[in-house]
Amino acid sequence: MAVGPQAANPPPGERDVLETAARADWRFRFQLKRRHVTPLLSGTAGPLKGRVRVPGDKSISHRALILGSLAVGCTRVSGLLEGEDVLCTAAAMRALGARLDRGADGIWTVTGVGIGGLIEPEALLDMGNSGTGARLLMGVVASHPLTAFFTGDASLRKRPMGRVGDPLSRIGARIVSRAGGRMPLAITGTGDPVPISYRLPVASAQVKSAVLLAGLNTPGVTSVIEPMPTRDHSERMMRHFGASVAVEDFSDGAREIRLEGQPELRAADLVVPSDPSSAAFPAVAALLVAGSELTIDGVGTNKLRTGLYDTLLEMGADITFRNERIEGGEPVADLLVKASELRGVTVPAERSPRMIDEYPVLAVAAAFARGPTVMHGLGELRVKESDRLSAVAEGLKACGVDFSIEGDILTVEGKGKPPAGGGLIAAKLDHRIAMSFLILGLAAKAGTKIDDGETINTSFPGFVELMNGLGARIAVEKA
Ligand code: S3P
Repeated sequence: MAVGPQAANPPPGERDVLETAARADWRFRFQLKRRHVTPLLSGTAGPLKGRVRVPGDKSISHRALILGSLAVGCTRVSGLLEGEDVLCTAAAMRALGARLDRGADGIWTVTGVGIGGLIEPEALLDMGNSGTGARLLMGVVASHPLTAFFTGDASLRKRPMGRVGDPLSRIGARIVSRAGGRMPLAITGTGDPVPISYRLPVASAQVKSAVLLAGLNTPGVTSVIEPMPTRDHSERMMRHFGASVAVEDFSDGAREIRLEGQPELRAADLVVPSDPSSAAFPAVAALLVAGSELTIDGVGTNKLRTGLYDTLLEMGADITFRNERIEGGEPVADLLVKASELRGVTVPAERSPRMIDEYPVLAVAAAFARGPTVMHGLGELRVKESDRLSAVAEGLKACGVDFSIEGDILTVEGKGKPPAGGGLIAAKLDHRIAMSFLILGLAAKAGTKIDDGETINTSFPGFVELMNGLGARIAVEKA
């Protein structure tokens, strides 16, 4: 069945997904602004107990739809994250000529057009809130002879796209953007792309992936050298579809990825593991709320994503990785998390690429720990869905937590007991800020309020229901 406003009389279980898809599709087509604002309150909860599965991995979901669209044949994807970010990528891939259908069983079928087979989209590609979708698709378009116009929501339009535009113009694409490389922007891809060897100026999986995706339709070898290894889902999935990707680690910690251009990608089914970045929210909640004991099933444990869990273990967290296995080419495990007394630690800058999205929720955990937690190397937080360093600082301040920021180092002064809480927090169109401070409100002396929780749908549809099912108290504020 096709997903979109045209789908008629869906069965009840599917309605949420279809509604979210329709919203993404409508925004995509008609440039509607987000109309709803949903203030959320979270209050002190009793122990959190139960067994849950969080939604599919966002990074892997984007890549599954993009690479499935570039493969020849039908790829079946199960466990796809049906959040707004990924649904924007689905809408964009349709506009570029691929066919994407969602079955009643939740399995998506992507009918790819083959590398080089994309068509020019008739309308703007509205990537919503998604930096990943936007940057990866810019890479894809760069080596196709077509022009595409990209835009996004107020958060995405502030984010720097020049970091992708620079290497893509070396390949031969032409990009016209607002000042600072910002969206809306137009990219005219080249029919005669040049293979490049590109050293990333910042550790960014999005930039790496954009260059590699452009390299798929480029003759010869495209290579990316990253200063520190970042999430490698693109490399793994390109191999899964039949591309030849070689990886070399250097003694200084850098890594080179070499892709042979113009492979024939063949459709290959995919299973998307649960997102470790989403699992972080119930996991940290269970650590902080006394008496909690929680199992989170099938969480991705790719080493390039698990920096938060390593840090929490160092802080004294009681987390056990059970039933470790490989699913769909990625390692997964069931996480058993028990309430724990945490102590402050120092988190080295080298760990940041492995936990770049988890600092807001780590800052919340650190607010309850005994002693300071010092987090180094947070410069990239300034250019996420919000300026996350400032958003975390404002949230901590509103909740009575002592902290300091010096350059790119954040120190949270935990007192070994619950902080005051009680703050009103501005989510700033940033899902991870919204969820992190709702978690703080579950265990602080007083609850918290988020000005708008709608943004949570970008990565974690059903977050409030899942948390409340475990015993949390999160509710929409009554008008
Ligand atoms: C992502 C990479 C990270 C991360 C983002 C998802 C990806 O961004 O913050 O949520 O899927 O490649 P950077 O690569 O820009 O650090």
